[in-house]
Amino acid sequence: MDLVIRNASLPDGRRDIDIAIAGGRIAALGPRLPVRGARELDAAGDLVTPPFVDAHFHMDATLSYGLPRVNRSGTLLEGIALWGELKPALTQDALIERAMQYCDWAVARGLLAIRSHVDICDDRLLAVEALLEVRRRVAPYLDLQLVAFPQDGVLRSPGAFDNLKRAIGMGVDVVGGIPHFERTMADGAASVRLLCEYAAEQGLRVDMHCDESDDPLSRHIETLACETQRLGLQGRVSGSHLTSMHSMDNYYVSKLLPLIREAGVAAIANPLINITLQGRHDSYPKRRGMTRVPELMAAGVEVAFGHDCAMDPWYSLGSADMLEVAHMGLHVAQMTGQEAMLQCFMAVTENPARILGLEGYGLAPGCHADLVLLDAATPVEAIRLRAARRVVIRRGVVLSETAPTQARLHLPERAAHTRFRLER
Ligand code: FE2
Repeated sequence: MDLVIRNASLPDGRRDIDIAIAGGRIAALGPRLPVRGARELDAAGDLVTPPFVDAHFHMDATLSYGLPRVNRSGTLLEGIALWGELKPALTQDALIERAMQYCDWAVARGLLAIRSHVDICDDRLLAVEALLEVRRRVAPYLDLQLVAFPQDGVLRSPGAFDNLKRAIGMGVDVVGGIPHFERTMADGAASVRLLCEYAAEQGLRVDMHCDESDDPLSRHIETLACETQRLGLQGRVSGSHLTSMHSMDNYYVSKLLPLIREAGVAAIANPLINITLQGRHDSYPKRRGMTRVPELMAAGVEVAFGHDCAMDPWYSLGSADMLEVAHMGLHVAQMTGQEAMLQCFMAVTENPARILGLEGYGLAPGCHADLVLLDAATPVEAIRLRAARRVVIRRGVVLSETAPTQARLHLPERAAHTRFRLER
């Protein structure tokens, strides 16, 4: 074997598991495997998980914080204005450099697959070219899936549909959209139909920014589910954000949830961004604005959490840490039950892997040997500690190592160290 990991705990609760790796894939997995590895790694009871997956990100804007100025108010509207100021000044080299730096952070955080939207409303398609180049450069160590995203509205922005088709022709993977940003509800529905028909014709996946609003009457998810069914796109369509569902009437939602489930449309919430950008027109009480995550999950809908933004015009924070995303999602959705906390971990690993259609993802013989050893014993502890990624492995090769968290204490009659783990 090329590598054997000993004494691992797995997300499903199995303990003392050895993982044998050969030829970049998991060859065997079980207790006390009678094999030898060219290299052996002792997990010492800590958690080994498949890599984190981010189902929703904007890599063309990331790490542009402060360019050309910071978002003083921290609001969505000032963020959009700022992005408009920044766009004409973007250069391909700078876009590539920032995206590559973010991918470094991602790898160090065990985040090895990202679906990024890329704005196609600029006729030059500068960002598309830049991110295609980034996708090529990071391919050996990170799966980057690109969505052709008409930020200013595919119908509202002149030339956007042609640009979108050009971007797909250049190699962008997924069809995007933003129906709630079109001029009218009718235009929003028409944009969903247009884009879904195009995706069906091209055999592509769809991921739309859908109903990112506090308006309970923003119901484009209904059209998205209906078009998905009509065109036979089940299992290939995602609704991103869906924040209006937070504010919808409960009776309407009781009809909507089975519709989404029947259509096989996935839901992608973005907790860090939803909790900061939604409810901004409220006084008190202030709405949280994130979509109905536990209810969607209970209805059998595939749900993932995305990072959405990191140090860009909309969000000044973030560091490619999907455990931080899961931590926020858990709190915002009040998912504190034992099973619910585990579901929050799945929302940044297995669920988005299925949404992206990643091949060979998982912890079973035959899967790619893409693994993260965490400085935590369980998924819940990993979320609680935003645990250090002790070792990040891709195709059996170590990509990144981080020292476990440990503080040295100088206290009378107390231990010399603490690792923030329960010691009993
Ligand atoms: Fe987004």
